[in-house]
Amino acid sequence: MSLTSTQIKLVQDSFALVAPIADTAAQLFYGRLFELDPSLRHMFKSDMKEQGRKLMQMLSVAVHALNNLDGIISAVQALGQRHVGYGVTMEHYAIVGDALLWTLEQGLGEAFTPEVKEAWTAVYVLLTQVATANLYPEPA
Ligand code: HEM
Repeated sequence: MSLTSTQIKLVQDSFALVAPIADTAAQLFYGRLFELDPSLRHMFKSDMKEQGRKLMQMLSVAVHALNNLDGIISAVQALGQRHVGYGVTMEHYAIVGDALLWTLEQGLGEAFTPEVKEAWTAVYVLLTQVATANLYPEPA
């Protein structure tokens, strides 16, 4: 799957709207994630505020690099490898994707149009494919 320049712009512009409320967005995200699957809570050992910052920071790097994905492929692959060590499965990526889209919907309100949702879905699928390539039995 590849991204169109329109999708890239939709994702970058909408991320810019949630970036100022990054801490709140991260809090919403983990709240939703643990609601969707309470069993995931025990996987997170560190301070959740710090964890939320790392997640938003990584998302920010990825979102800004969408025009030049080659530049972050090795970093995303390494991220995916570390996640195997955290006990993360392919199924978890789908749940995290759902929690992420839900969070964007909360943060963006009416700006979360069907086009924006589709663009974020494409970005998340792509990141997941790069992060999980050759690490799990089934394809992403
Ligand atoms: C594209 C999707 C994802 C991104 C951008 C992301 C980002 C991050 C980042 C930046 C960290 C900090 C540590 C590190 O860099 O290794 C981290 C840690 C972690 N992530 Fe993710 N992650 C993603 C998907 C997932 C999924 C699907 C799960 C499954 C529940 C997950 C669970 C965790 C856990 C358990 C930790 C370690 C927490 C701890 O040490 O307490 N992540 N993630």
